[in-house]
Amino acid sequence: KNIVILISGGGSNMAAIVRAAEQERWAARFDARIAAVISNKPDAAGLALARAAGIATAVVPHKDFASREDFDAALAQAIDAHAPSLVVLAGFMRILTPGFVSRYAGRLLNIHPSLLPAFPGLHTHQRAIDAGCKVAGLTVHQVTVELDHGPILAQAVVPVLPDDTAASLAERVLVHEHRVYPQAIAAWLIETK
Ligand code: GRF
Repeated sequence: KNIVILISGGGSNMAAIVRAAEQERWAARFDARIAAVISNKPDAAGLALARAAGIATAVVPHKDFASREDFDAALAQAIDAHAPSLVVLAGFMRILTPGFVSRYAGRLLNIHPSLLPAFPGLHTHQRAIDAGCKVAGLTVHQVTVELDHGPILAQAVVPVLPDDTAASLAERVLVHEHRVYPQAIAAWLIETK
């Protein structure tokens, strides 16, 4: 089973998934491997992490395409070169077209840095702080055509501290993302075995 991970930036979630796949022996246990890491940003720092781990990488720069549909078609072509059983969005900052989402329906996951359905969209940590929330967190969900609204696989609750800024809260949540996302993927691999 090939897993393709899509990133746009630092790729810390991708790195956590790669580490878990090795340490938890996903290849032996689930016949699953990280086949490729693909980014829409040529300068995504996560690409270097993937290459250092010996994982194939590809870049599909969204700037090269006239339409969202054209980009998504090129992205799907790069993904399908690896015949994925699972496509994992990890810090992937593009909204995907309905055509792309339906192509990977049931095997497309995302991690969102809030307790959905609260705070879909961007700037989730600042919005939680502004709303006076005492807890924040993350959600791993199936990607559907409605942004940040697909079936939920896993969530984790993280305290919001009185002196938190968006940056300090994001840092605290990210630690839990790195724990929960690999767990949710392993559970998905077991369920779909
Ligand atoms: C994280 O906040 C994550 O929740 C969101 O993108 C941010 C960066 O992720 N999906 P990464 O370090 O690129 O994995």
